[in-house]
Amino acid sequence: MDKKLSLFPVSTQIIQDKLTIGGCDVRTLADQHGTPLYLYDRADLDSAAGLYRRFLGESWPGRWSVTYAGKAFLCASIAQWAQGQGFIVDCTGAGEIGIAVSAGLPREHIVVHGVNKSAEDLQAAIAHAGTIVVDNLSELGRLAKLAKSDSLPELWLRFQPGSSVDTHAYTQTGHSSSKFGMSREQILEAVKICRENDLPLKGLHFHQGSQFRDPEPLGDGIDKALDLAKEIGFKDDWHLSPGGGWGIAYHEDDLPQPPLEMYVRFVAENIKAGCKKRGLTLPHLHLEPGRSLVAKAGVAVYRVGTVKQTAGKTWLLIDGGMADNPRHALYGAKYSCLTVEKATGSPTQVVSIGGPFCESGDVLIEQIPLRAVEEDELIAIPVSGAYHLSMASNYNGARRPAVLLLDNGQARVMQSRETTRDLTRRDGPENA
Ligand code: LLP
Repeated sequence: MDKKLSLFPVSTQIIQDKLTIGGCDVRTLADQHGTPLYLYDRADLDSAAGLYRRFLGESWPGRWSVTYAGKAFLCASIAQWAQGQGFIVDCTGAGEIGIAVSAGLPREHIVVHGVNKSAEDLQAAIAHAGTIVVDNLSELGRLAKLAKSDSLPELWLRFQPGSSVDTHAYTQTGHSSSKFGMSREQILEAVKICRENDLPLKGLHFHQGSQFRDPEPLGDGIDKALDLAKEIGFKDDWHLSPGGGWGIAYHEDDLPQPPLEMYVRFVAENIKAGCKKRGLTLPHLHLEPGRSLVAKAGVAVYRVGTVKQTAGKTWLLIDGGMADNPRHALYGAKYSCLTVEKATGSPTQVVSIGGPFCESGDVLIEQIPLRAVEEDELIAIPVSGAYHLSMASNYNGARRPAVLLLDNGQARVMQSRETTRDLTRRDGPENA
């Protein structure tokens, strides 16, 4: 039970056998706001942010910043929270830039990523961002043309080191056949283009993948990036972003959460030593976490509609699934859960938890031991804060869940539940 509870946000308590988060009773929130319901614990967000600040502050002697990867989950409140922590927000394209701008983020708090940025993405980045991370030579060519009429934000070049971290194939990004970034030769060509066109080249970025626990492969990326930095001739005031991707635990059977300190120190020590060896000045160091900042703060709450017996399986069929959390369907991700009431009840059966969508792959949990659960009861799935809602869909007309921020007994709506009207809003004028 303790192992399971440690997957939940820091403020989680079981009081009179009922789940409470952020000082709020989860059952009461579900009754007020409906299900599926996503809850974010402010204390957990702040604690993860504080750890990044602390370990970076302790291990990096130069300038540093944390760039929150908005792709994990972005809405105005989260963008404002990130800014309040002193963080920059990494936005992929015009849509996420629009969210950051609506939240009032100034240019210097916005970095723009993207592997195939459209003209609209580039225009939005020029209008609102402090930095654009250039993925490829075609994009750089477009920016060089735009630079004739607009002044550009600072540019970093995305380097593809040719090595990935150890993780699911779908979330590896640094290998040489990956669609992301530029090879060493392409980077050198890009530097030439920047110099010929007087573009504000300020740094290098690379990202080798997401949800890894062993930082070792980053050593290779760091070495190659520093070799390049030396060749480019970066001197004072340059930036290096070795991406994000630090892993987290999703299930009590996973290895425990790998210590953040190990990751931050590994990156800092390797860059310090590498700069010294090459006679490079220390760059501004940027870490770019998404999941390890927000995943554990988020909990998804569902209502069990049907308990169904099939050959060899007991199904709990709940009111959400692959439309709000496609991660089991996409990556085979393994989740855990607790019942919201009688939360400490000992398991008496093994169940599978499926959603309401018309696909056999619409399963959130395969085979988990749980106490007997009645129809209409609530279950809570921890570690739901990253890459659920940001990858959510309207499959089968699903309306995206409401999202609450819980803080000291107060619940604030960060995003309201979508309505059927939202589903028809984009229909052509003849149907309006
Ligand atoms: N920086 C860049 C350039 C990235 O592409 C990513 C993630 C991050 C930072 C943040 O990685 P994080 O710290 O959140 O792991 N949908 C997948 C994850 C895709 C990650 C894409 N890029 C999942 O649900 O596991």
